Amino acid sequence: MAMVCLSDFEAYAKKYLPKFAWDFFAAGADDCNTRDENILAYKRIHFRPRMLRDVSVMDIRTKLLGTEISFPVGIAPTGFHQLAWPDGEKSTARAAKAMHTCYIASTYSTCTLEEISAAAPGGFRWFQLYIHRNRAVSQELVQRAEALGFQGLVLTADLPYTGKRRDDVRNGFCLPPHMKLKNLEGAFEVCKMNPSFHSLLDPSVTWNDIYWLQSLTHLPIIIKGILTKEDAELAVRHGVQGIIVSNHGGRQLDGAPATIDALIEVVEAVQGRVEVYLDGGIRKGSDILKALALGAKCVFIGRPALWGLAYKGEEGLQDVLRILQDEFRLSMALAG
Ligand code: FNR
Repeated sequence: MAMVCLSDFEAYAKKYLPKFAWDFFAAGADDCNTRDENILAYKRIHFRPRMLRDVSVMDIRTKLLGTEISFPVGIAPTGFHQLAWPDGEKSTARAAKAMHTCYIASTYSTCTLEEISAAAPGGFRWFQLYIHRNRAVSQELVQRAEALGFQGLVLTADLPYTGKRRDDVRNGFCLPPHMKLKNLEGAFEVCKMNPSFHSLLDPSVTWNDIYWLQSLTHLPIIIKGILTKEDAELAVRHGVQGIIVSNHGGRQLDGAPATIDALIEVVEAVQGRVEVYLDGGIRKGSDILKALALGAKCVFIGRPALWGLAYKGEEGLQDVLRILQDEFRLSMALAG
């Protein structure tokens, strides 16, 4: 099968992954309107291409908080990579390093932060945090990540409780017994992806907890899950260094806006005071160009990275990134 675009990887993953794993990766909340809107919204946006501008040489590199990446696409935090590929997050880390981009490792990784670091020494990584009711657990994770050389702390703000993902409920989604949330081992026993599992996350988190995080670490803090100008302003005022406009891939509040639509008001509110990134629905090079044209510094991919892993581990993920890179370069050229 020739892998030409990201949909080819999606089709492969759907065909070969066990149904419960495919359903978990694909899931959106409720009717999946927001998940689907993330993709549909790009189709409503059109370019005003310019001609005869000498596009023979192009530079697609950029910087995230001062660190250079090869092109403006990083890997969003997603949990449970061993459901896609036996080496799990170790493969993700290797692929990101090989492609010179940023990998945001999830709290819900199936490899330890130490294993992820050792798999791709010197790779550019941020650590994504869910704050647990037991604050000592979160504190330890943040400090471990910093000591291991992770370069940023991504606080996910949109998951006080888990959205209702119908197929996961129907399947009684559960990690297979040989997989563990290795960074939280000992903190609690993982069973079903049901409310009691996620009730271990602290739903009382507020903006003041940014100050708490700042007291724990020197790492820059990036807040993920912002969708409005009001929250963008609060994020800047609380001293974060970056904002990821995200609706969690449509897995949380169904009815939240498509991220490419929300990006516009966030960029307008922030006025360049902090870096603004976006995730959700990026499936081809022209989507990346639209997000950049509307003010994002960089975008991140969630599900497409999992499809790449499901196809061929780190090689498959590199294929996904390379296709996006080629398509992005071509879109830039054709748009002048
Ligand atoms: C996620 N996402 C997510 N976000 C986060 O902050 N921590 C996490 O552990 C996870 N886990 C996770 C698992 C799976 C299977 C998916 C699909 C998503 C959300 C993720 O970071 C990102 O916001 C979306 O995936 C972006 O949308 P696309 O690229 O999947 O359309």
